[in-house]
Formats: sequence, C-alpha cells, structure tokens
Amino acid sequence: MLAQASPWYAHALQRTTTGPAEPLTVPARMEWTTRPGSGPGAEILGPDLRHKRVLELGCGPGHNAAHLATLPQALGSARAGEPPAGAQVTGVDLVGLQVRRARSHYGRLNNLTFVAGHALHYLQACDEQFDAICSVFGAIGLVAPELLLPAIAHHLKPGCSLAFSVPHPQRGGLRPATDDRPRRDYVTLPDLTRLPLARWDFDADRWEKHLGRTGLWLTSAQEFHDARHGGRWPTTLLITARRR
Ligand SMILES: C[S@@+](CC[C@H](N)C(=O)[O-])C[C@H]1O[C@@H](n2cnc3c(N)ncnc32)[C@H](O)[C@@H]1O
Repeated sequence: MLAQASPWYAHALQRTTTGPAEPLTVPARMEWTTRPGSGPGAEILGPDLRHKRVLELGCGPGHNAAHLATLPQALGSARAGEPPAGAQVTGVDLVGLQVRRARSHYGRLNNLTFVAGHALHYLQACDEQFDAICSVFGAIGLVAPELLLPAIAHHLKPGCSLAFSVPHPQRGGLRPATDDRPRRDYVTLPDLTRLPLARWDFDADRWEKHLGRTGLWLTSAQEFHDARHGGRWPTTLLITARRR
C-alpha cells in the first residue's frame, strides 16, 4: 500500500475531487518553475526532440508530458503548415489516481503513455534507452539520489540530457542540506493541510557531486524567484546534466 501511505496519494485525491477529469488543450510551453511563463522551455532537453524517446518521472497530471508529445516543430526550424510532431513520451507517476487524471486530460495523444509506479521501480524494470529524461518537482529529490541517479544514467543514451527542477534549497530562507541525507519537508494539499515527506534538499554543488558519481555531468544550474512567494528567496532550482 505504498501509494496510499504516500502524501502524494492524498494530494492527488483532493486535486481529483476539485478539478474535473476532462480533455484539456495541450500547454503551449513546458513549465519548469513555480511561475508559469518564466524560465526556459523544452529546448533544454535537446535541440530537436521530434520522434525521440522522452521519459518524465513524477508527471502528475501530465501537462509537461503532453507538451513534449506535441512539440510544434523542431525547435527553431518551423515550416508553415508543418504538422505537430512531438516526442514519444512516457510519463510515470507513483499515484494511480494521478495517472488516471493525466489520461483523462491527454490520453487521446497517440505518442504519449502514462504509467503508474515508483520511478525507481519503473527504471529497474525498463529495458529502453531514452534521448531525454526529466522531472519537474517530480521524483528527483523525493527518491534517494544514490539509487535514482544511477538508474537514470543507465537509461539515458550517451550525450543525451537529464533536466530536473526541485524546490530551491534556500526557499523561504532555508539553508541547503549540509550532508547527503534527506530532511523533512511538507506537501501542501489543496485544502492547505500540510503532510510531511522526506526530501533530498541539495544545492547545485551537491547535485553536481551526486551526478558526477553516476557518469552524468552537470551542464547548468539556474535559480528562479517568484514574486507570489515574496520574491526574496529563490523558489526553483533547475539543473541540466548530460550523460558522458
Ligand atoms: C509536485 S507534483 C509535480 C507533478 C508534475 N511534474 C507537475 O509539474 O505538475 C509531484 C509528483 O511526483 C509524484 N511522485 C512522488 N514520488 C514519486 C516517485 N517515487 N515515483 C514517481 N512519481 C512520484 C507524485 O505522485 C506527484 O504527482
């Protein structure tokens, strides 16, 4: 009963009761940060993802996975009348309810598959290699990095990219972790109840160290602020890395 013991199950349950399960228009951009419309888009995963295999770990309701599956064109090389041709995307989420919600929103897209399961278990059972792997406030940071990062590296083709965003370790004036252990954080549910969870709250240097151990090298680390959260402290840390 892992999913029911997880605060993410309660999160999905409340979201499902408050938001209708209906087909949605595919978002026009990929959102990596807490502030929609800010930061980079899908291009940080690779210059041309058309027909490439992309995996999202902790896809939630599937908005970013749907965007990746319907990229309007090779980024930067639009041709008039060219039909949308996205990546072949798999979105994995721990909670079956989230997967059901994602399917109700975007299940009509042919080249998009949603799978219910733990990110690590999915990778351990999978025999595919991916052209890009991403996580947007998803499984990376919520699963022990010494287990999850090697599994990711194992399934990423050489030269290909991993990109992930996590809550910034200095959000709200916090200090980044001073060791490799997780610390207590909270998920805020739609009704504002806060449920505890463990989070690996690393700064960019610590992520670089962990990535390096698995054959991934950090290529960028960016931080983003969000005026709605006071604006003083960064809210999002966005990391990109490449497989050697
Ligand atoms: C904050 S939500 C982000 C969802 C989505 N990426 C987005 O940006 O809208 C975190 C998601 O990660 C999922 N998750 C948490 N731990 C996970 C794990 N170990 N494996 C797969 N998914 C996980 C949760 O169920 C939840 O849907």
